Amino acid sequence: MLMPHLDEAKKRTKNKVLVRKFEIDDKFKKIGVGKTYYVKTYGCQMNVHDTENIKAILEEMGFKENDDMEKSDLILLNTCAIRENAHNKVFGMIGRLKHLKEDRPGIITGVCGCMAQEEVVVDEILNKFKFLDFVFGTHNIDELPAILYEAISKNKTFIDVKSIEGDIVEDMPVKRDSKYKAFVNIMYGCDKFCTYCIVPYTRGKQRSRRIEDIIKEVESLKKDGYKEVTLLGQNVNAYGKDLNLDYDMSDLLELVAKTGIERVRFVTSHPWDFTDKMIDVIGKYPNIMPYIHLPLQSGSDRILKLMGRRYTKESYLELFDKIKKAVPNASITTDIIVGFPGENDDDFLETLDVVNKCKYDSAFTFIFSPREGTPAAKMKDDTPLSVKEERLHRLNEVVNKYALEANQKYLDKEVPVLLENVSEKDDSMLAGYTDTMKLVNVKASKEYLGKIVNVKITDVKTWSMDGEIA
Ligand code: SAH
Ligand code: SF4
Ligand code: F3S
Repeated sequence: MLMPHLDEAKKRTKNKVLVRKFEIDDKFKKIGVGKTYYVKTYGCQMNVHDTENIKAILEEMGFKENDDMEKSDLILLNTCAIRENAHNKVFGMIGRLKHLKEDRPGIITGVCGCMAQEEVVVDEILNKFKFLDFVFGTHNIDELPAILYEAISKNKTFIDVKSIEGDIVEDMPVKRDSKYKAFVNIMYGCDKFCTYCIVPYTRGKQRSRRIEDIIKEVESLKKDGYKEVTLLGQNVNAYGKDLNLDYDMSDLLELVAKTGIERVRFVTSHPWDFTDKMIDVIGKYPNIMPYIHLPLQSGSDRILKLMGRRYTKESYLELFDKIKKAVPNASITTDIIVGFPGENDDDFLETLDVVNKCKYDSAFTFIFSPREGTPAAKMKDDTPLSVKEERLHRLNEVVNKYALEANQKYLDKEVPVLLENVSEKDDSMLAGYTDTMKLVNVKASKEYLGKIVNVKITDVKTWSMDGEIA
């Protein structure tokens, strides 16, 4: 029984990060034979990618995937702790699992991911949801075989959550969702400690993967026919800072571009570490996609300071202009939080002002959600929820207006689209993304799947476009 502790998780040890290879003991390889599994994912791309690893590990244990949760023998929830509503959704689902377990007592149920790193969550599970078989965290995914082995042999909830990050595990098996696009982790954890954010606690200290391991993975993906890689990290621009070597994100980006893989993307970029050298590299390589997610969070200097973001409205706008100048066709999207503790109408108007200046291609907007254990959760917050909701509504109207305007520029133009899915509603339609990350529905036969084709845009909406093969 290893319980999580956020206070421990806050610590940043000087321990050298070890790199080791994934291993699975033969004795675990038969546990799942004849059984099926279902994993539900709640979080960000990192969480989605963790699920891809989890699925492959389960398959090495003999389990087979089942799309129908109700009929699966093993059900695992890979959770997200970023906001209260993610938390509530998971507990809603745990309630449903309880009924399933009553009907089919033989099933195995578990919880993993970022919520598992929070002691309030694990306490609640131990008090109210004792039927769950196991809980593990973000730092020991590779130990899943041993955890399941223990869980099955016990008749109480087996908890195995490490608060301090573990090693970097290379060569983890992976069952990718797509045959054409792949996520590649370049770093784990985050050391930025924005005051509202739980991630530095649930994901531990920043640990960059070795550059040679990343390049090896990209090269092998290219060999397997992948067209696109997305380099993943909470804060990719800080890549390498923890390695104390003489290369950084711009060097990594350049090496990844030089592998010749057709499309390179990266998320998320914190404005703080966005260097001129990076902007040069993005502008120089045609296979680095002209799409940048540049979270703003707030346009008010006072709020940015309280958030611990370490940039100002002015320096953000400067960076934004620099990127637009170097990569003129770039689409830029953002994240914004309204209703941070103490945010007043003037602060909010500053945020709107930045949105009006940047005219983002799109934005994810959120109402501040206090996360227990973070500094912002203790700050005085006397703005009524109705006022926060109204700000969110006003913000969304402006964001949507610019999203539509940005899309309208594409009308009648030809753009490259990687066609990756058959539409669920109409199987004569394929869907994919432009280089600038716009979703396009295209009338095209299945032979185009997995290809990057020029598409003429025939209609635009706020969140997607329609087109035909040019
Ligand atoms: N590493 C990324 C953010 C990951 S979380 C970055 O720094 O840009 C994704 C988004 O969730 C954040 O950008 C922020 O806008 C939002 N978010 C994080 N914590 C939040 C909280 N406590 N309440 C509301 N939104 C939050
Ligand atoms: Fe959270 Fe800030 Fe780290 Fe992003 S950079 S994950 S918002 S602490
Ligand atoms: Fe959520 Fe954890 Fe990602 S909190 S946003 S799943 S890093």
